[in-house]
Amino acid sequence: MARSAELAGDAYILNIGELCTPLGTEGLAGSAMRDIYTIADAAIVARDGLIAYAGPQSGLDPDLVEGLSPVDANGRAVIPSFVDSHAHFVFAGSRSDEFLLRAGGMSYMDIHRSGGGIARSVRATRAADLEELVGLGEARAWAMVQQGVTTVEAKSGYGLDRDTELRQLEAANVVAERVPIDIVPTYLGLHSVGPEFEGDARGYVDYAIAEVLPAVAAQGYARFADAFCEAGVFGIEDCHRFLTAAKGLGLGAKIHAEEIERTGGAALAAQLRATSADHLLRANDIDFQMLAGVGCVATCLPLTSFCLGLAHADARSMIDAGCAVALASDLNPGSAASGSIPLIIALAVLQMKLSIEETITALTLNGAAALGLAAETGSLEPGKKADFILLDAPSISFLPYRSGVNLVSAVFKGGELVYRA
Ligand code: NIG
Ligand code: FE
Repeated sequence: MARSAELAGDAYILNIGELCTPLGTEGLAGSAMRDIYTIADAAIVARDGLIAYAGPQSGLDPDLVEGLSPVDANGRAVIPSFVDSHAHFVFAGSRSDEFLLRAGGMSYMDIHRSGGGIARSVRATRAADLEELVGLGEARAWAMVQQGVTTVEAKSGYGLDRDTELRQLEAANVVAERVPIDIVPTYLGLHSVGPEFEGDARGYVDYAIAEVLPAVAAQGYARFADAFCEAGVFGIEDCHRFLTAAKGLGLGAKIHAEEIERTGGAALAAQLRATSADHLLRANDIDFQMLAGVGCVATCLPLTSFCLGLAHADARSMIDAGCAVALASDLNPGSAASGSIPLIIALAVLQMKLSIEETITALTLNGAAALGLAAETGSLEPGKKADFILLDAPSISFLPYRSGVNLVSAVFKGGELVYRA
């Protein structure tokens, strides 16, 4: 993983009106997503970048805070910082004109088939050098930190040739050295068929497996491989081949599954023991049961459904079926260029019918689980990274209530204050 420059600070926040966090070192599934530990009149202490205490002020051992100057939260709420487990933010160019075409009724796949869409971002990204990609990624990563995100995924997939894919992954790694955010790079090798292989998906997959995957593994930045399993893009067999090869090289598997049409991507994710299956707009109860059965995180991306004008994934039924649901931004130049965490929260609570407790779990601990990081971040308990945010509100109920408003007033990463509103 690309770690943000080693942050190992000490911090002591007192007079916290409400400290809220899920608990555990694994994703929480089903009704456990609602089990948020909530403490009034709380304190949190970080030592050497890790949480040393998170609980009632009255239970704090004074020795633990010896020599630390306290920060007074003045009754404000503290929650774990957000983990954005599905994002494509290292790319060049924009596609705002396509956004308006879609808003006017054209479909995502019609644009894709006409040579726009992902192919357009591939042309722009291939033309960008490393420093340019780093600069673009850096600005986007800072915008995330300001919304309380301190861990994010960075998918490649806008190169579709070996050198550009490696450059995107390297750029993600450099961004993590410059911005206080942990970045988990993912090789999204099967995002679209590379232009050199037009009409020959199979040939492109052979190339990705033989020429790119080994180079990605040797480079050492990527933790996961991902495939866009979709009618008219990549079929089950090609995704199976690619992800199996990736697992053989030590990468975890993720799948863009059942986004536009239901093609069996969720079942493939369960079969391959993928870490997450993402999108799932078209997934059904059978899929939910399969994902729940193997503990594959079901990742929902409400900004994408919102921007594409499609019905949201049925996260309510997923949780009721026992899935561990994560929420993420899907930040990318096409289907979802928003990246707004406040908007995700509003959509989750108001339109997807999740409780605010479920929404927080989905954006913190379960996001960490979707990146294989639940043992180190995503909740506030001793031994975990001191990654947390102070809200400009006395309670988590204000997050959906102030719909669309960024209520982050301070962000701590590894115990260090990295952003103050
Ligand atoms: O997750 N669906 C495929 N990939 C992205 C969109 C990428 C793009 O349009 O540039 C997604 O929505
Ligand atoms: Fe995506």
